[in-house]
Amino acid sequence: MTETPNDAPGRVDVRELSIELGAGADRFRAVERVSFAIPAGQFVCLLGPSGCGKSTLLGAVAGHLPAATGGAWLDDEKIFGPAPERGLVFQQHTLFPWKRVVDNVAFGLKMKGVGRAERRARARELLELVGLAGFEDKYPVQLSGGMQQRVEIARVLINRPRVLLMDEPFAALDAQTRWVMQQLLLDVWSRVKTTVVFVTHDIDEAIFLADRILVMSHRPGRIREDLAIPAGRPRGQEWLTSDEFLRLKRRCMALMRDEHERAFGARGEPAALAGAFI
Ligand SMILES: Nc1ncnc2c1ncn2[C@@H]1O[C@H](COP(=O)(O)OP(=O)(O)O)[C@@H](O)[C@H]1O
Ligand SMILES: [Mg+2]
Repeated sequence: MTETPNDAPGRVDVRELSIELGAGADRFRAVERVSFAIPAGQFVCLLGPSGCGKSTLLGAVAGHLPAATGGAWLDDEKIFGPAPERGLVFQQHTLFPWKRVVDNVAFGLKMKGVGRAERRARARELLELVGLAGFEDKYPVQLSGGMQQRVEIARVLINRPRVLLMDEPFAALDAQTRWVMQQLLLDVWSRVKTTVVFVTHDIDEAIFLADRILVMSHRPGRIREDLAIPAGRPRGQEWLTSDEFLRLKRRCMALMRDEHERAFGARGEPAALAGAFI
């Protein structure tokens, strides 16, 4: 694909953002005064143990959850509600089962009033980008889990998002497929150059993918550490076994273990606890 889907920069600013969940006496702060800035085009992973508030924070940037304090901005526009320029990909599939793959991908353009021929042509281009040329006329049920996630990515990219928001998109896939999808995502990102905020609890995944990892603390969610990942690109399998990768992994494991102990108290073998998050 020759064109760049993002026609605007894609800088994300989160300032003093708190988010409250639950009702009445059960209401609590899931995210507490979080601030960070993501330059346009950066690939950031939000890493933290289950339940620390990653999805909540991403949901606020997507515009699905209101801020209790502060807010989030995309290119200096305050985020108030969901918009196609902030494309969201989840772990679970959201494809229309009764629509062919090409029409699932073209759907966002239909909503914008683009004609059928043009939207199908654009959908085909994106399906090619995610390695699904030849599968245009299949129905989602005819595709594997990994292929369905490729369709989900194409479906979001057709809206030319300035930022791609991903919430554990590969968590339900088997290890081999996950690895293929991680490489595919980096390849797609190197072409579309959109900003990415990718949520994961998987340390290896975060270090493999990201330019930068924001490690979150346990409830209430705060940014515990802002880690730069100094590896070049493209990245291959050798990065996963490099000394620098292992150094970063040890650092992330220590932070996660620390958060687990803070939340649940120190119990059992530290290595076993750290292992529970990998
Ligand atoms: N709608 C909700 N109402 C009340 N509590 C919630 C709701 N959604 C999530 N939670 C709780 O808020 C915390 C943060 O959730 P979440 O952002 O989903 O964490 P993560 O994505 O890091 O696993 C968790 O303790 C979760 O149980
Ligand atoms: Mg989550």
